[in-house]
Amino acid sequence: MRILVTAGPTREYLDDVRYISNASSGRMGYAITQAILNAGYEAVLVSGPVSLAPPIGAEFHAVESTDQMMQVCQELFPHCDGVIAAAAVCDYKPHRRIAGKISKTGSPISLDMIETDDVLAALGKQKKSHWILGFALEAQNERENALQKLRRKNCNWIVLNRPDAIASEKNSVELLDETGSTIAAWAGTKTHVAEQLVEWLEKNAISTEPNQ
Ligand code: CTP
Repeated sequence: MRILVTAGPTREYLDDVRYISNASSGRMGYAITQAILNAGYEAVLVSGPVSLAPPIGAEFHAVESTDQMMQVCQELFPHCDGVIAAAAVCDYKPHRRIAGKISKTGSPISLDMIETDDVLAALGKQKKSHWILGFALEAQNERENALQKLRRKNCNWIVLNRPDAIASEKNSVELLDETGSTIAAWAGTKTHVAEQLVEWLEKNAISTEPNQ
């Protein structure tokens, strides 16, 4: 069993020195990767820039932008049995990256932003016999929005968590299935939540036939 994990933030550059990103620490994805390895499975970690060391034994792919995460994940996914998408991917990127450094003008400036491509939705389209577990970070209409994401991105399950999970040591999550039912809930350190999640997957996903 070979499991792809996405983790950390992505960065979208405005010019050669400035970028837009988010406060994701990568802890959740790294803890999941460690839990996968501890359970005796292969872990392939695709991570945006974080200050954590990749778990020893994981196949590690460092990326920076959403486009890079997309390219690497699309290459790796066909050779994996499932994916856990814990990355906090930037939703927007500057319309174009300016070469060099934008100089101050003394006046306000505005940024022209466009949506990034959705890595998880692209993997959802590539899905064959894989299983897909997404994350949904929701501040309102939590279950409804999470279920819509599960469907839009062709996930089997989605982990609902909330903005206070970002950059925290702890997390409190619910696992939703395709009907929108909460089928599990875990809280505690991200290490604990990751162990519970992998234990749940062992019983409910990893017993299914691998794709190759
Ligand atoms: N995701 C992704 N690529 C994106 C945006 C999100 O792969 N460009 C993945 C995340 O890794 C997560 C899931 O999609 O597994 C949901 O991410 P979330 O930030 O909750 O939702 P968005 O789809 O970005 O929608 P919104 O920000 O509008 O809630």
